[in-house]
Amino acid sequence: MMQEQIDKYTSEIKAFTAAKADELEAFRIKFLGTKGIIKDLFEQFKTVGAEEKRTFGKVLNQFKQLAEERYNDIKESLGAGTQAAKADTDLTLPGDGFEIGSRHPLSLVRNEIIDIFKRLGFVVAEGPEIEDDWHNFSALNFPEEHPARDMQDTFFIRKGDGNDDIALRTHTSSVQVRMMENGKPPFRAIMPGRVYRNEAISARAHCFFHQVEGLYVDENVSFSDLKQTLYHFVKELYGEDFKVRFRPSYFPFTEPSAEMDISCTICKGAGCNMCKYTGWVEILGCGMVDPNVLENCGIDSKKYTGFAFGMGIERITNLKYVIRDLRLFSENDVRFLKQFQTDII
Ligand code: DAH
Repeated sequence: MMQEQIDKYTSEIKAFTAAKADELEAFRIKFLGTKGIIKDLFEQFKTVGAEEKRTFGKVLNQFKQLAEERYNDIKESLGAGTQAAKADTDLTLPGDGFEIGSRHPLSLVRNEIIDIFKRLGFVVAEGPEIEDDWHNFSALNFPEEHPARDMQDTFFIRKGDGNDDIALRTHTSSVQVRMMENGKPPFRAIMPGRVYRNEAISARAHCFFHQVEGLYVDENVSFSDLKQTLYHFVKELYGEDFKVRFRPSYFPFTEPSAEMDISCTICKGAGCNMCKYTGWVEILGCGMVDPNVLENCGIDSKKYTGFAFGMGIERITNLKYVIRDLRLFSENDVRFLKQFQTDII
């Protein structure tokens, strides 16, 4: 009688499968539960004779073991299945690729400028964008009534304490002053940064843009050092295929002063709207640091001389990549930015 039952249940257990946890739970209750079949068989076992007990004891234990093993196996496989179902994804599939950004063209050109001067032994220095009159104008030998101090050009910051001395810097030349005030010659540095001017925004003008300032102060620095340094710089930047000229100019902080032009990189000097049909484009201002500036910064102008230069990064970038509208630099249009795909590290 018991043997028959066990045979029947053995084949049922062996054939049992479960797709869901509640089916497995029903199996457990039926066979292994406190009121289940196995419990019942053990109850019956108590009543059998001593002879039968010996053979049946073994059979019954094997049967119980079979039910438990089956239960554990199925539980394990269901567990794995439900986890995969929860994630609802094949975790071994390759992930979605993501697009890597690109460097802004102004950063590319700024870095290139920095690299060229670094190779000449220049260090990089920075200064604040919010400046006082002394560092932006007075120390740089700007006369009191100079038009650049005018509200038209400079964004002054009203602090409400009657001191209107604070402004957004209009050029990176202010960093020269900070550097010379805080150190001892020799100085050999380039100073990249953002500058601000109160201009109406158009294709050709913007209220903020970027400059790189250069300063070299030591004993016996001459104008020929200035020329040779800048010749080298433009050749490194644009290659050999153009002409360079220096034109006399005026800046309050340099004497003598000059501007440097290169033959238009776009029309190669033939004339186009980039060079306003002159064949030449101005790329920087420069000169020998005015002795007044050296003295204002506590440097002995009898002992030391120096040269300085300043250039707009936007202008250099426009010529390099033929960009005709300044507004593109600050509009963050990905169609524009994507064209400067580079290996970013
Ligand atoms: N600060 C000038 C500007 O913003 C550029 C400049 C000209 C800087 C001559 C210099 C320099 O250091 O020597 O237009």
